[in-house]
Amino acid sequence: MDLIKPELQGYAEQHTSPESDLLASINRETQANVMMPRMLSGHLQGRVLAMISKMIRPKAILEIGTFTGYSAICLAEGLAAGGKLITIDKNEELEGMVRRNFASANLTELIDYRLGNAVDIVPALNTRFDLVFIDADKENYSNYYDMVMDKLNLNGLVLADNVLWSGKVLDVNPDKDTEGIKAFNRKVQEDGRVENVLLPIRDGIMLIRKLSL
Ligand SMILES: C[S@@+](CC[C@H](N)C(=O)[O-])C[C@H]1O[C@@H](n2cnc3c(N)ncnc32)[C@H](O)[C@@H]1O
Repeated sequence: MDLIKPELQGYAEQHTSPESDLLASINRETQANVMMPRMLSGHLQGRVLAMISKMIRPKAILEIGTFTGYSAICLAEGLAAGGKLITIDKNEELEGMVRRNFASANLTELIDYRLGNAVDIVPALNTRFDLVFIDADKENYSNYYDMVMDKLNLNGLVLADNVLWSGKVLDVNPDKDTEGIKAFNRKVQEDGRVENVLLPIRDGIMLIRKLSL
């Protein structure tokens, strides 16, 4: 389900800075050759991610859910000098394409791409982050939130994608994924350590700022 009319989505994109040629070609290649291409952030959301990253100039970014690398490249646009982005995905089939995309963006040195289950990898990370993007399996959103909050700097941001889940968050009998998203949204809303805004952009982005350590 589209949350806004396609015509209005088109209008929003026409009045948003364009995506780079490289991002447009990653988008096209993903649509043509990869299963479930709708998972890619796309033009409008990609510009939102890049804008937020540029506003806070993070030294360290964590992304959970690389897919074909589109959002990682957008987030990396805002990295401070000497900054690093760690991105995690368990889909080994996409490795070649992802590494090519990062190389085309001249980001091989700045992006630490880890293949494996984020549930195992995130707890072992010994880094403090300024920006985290959660965009993987919905059932684990609350787990990822718990795992990253201790690793987030004061005033650090967490962004979580798909928090409206095509409107299914309003379902009376939610399925497992929907319940995962709803539990995450509740957890954030009740967490006194943060302030948060649920942005109804694309499929919903939760924007969270850490107020206390
Ligand atoms: C929605 S896509 C990410 C889209 C990407 N962030 C973008 O905007 O272009 C979700 C990705 O999470 C990955 N994923 C799902 N569960 C995972 C897990 N437990 N650990 C690591 N990656 C996982 C999937 O393989 C998939 O590529």
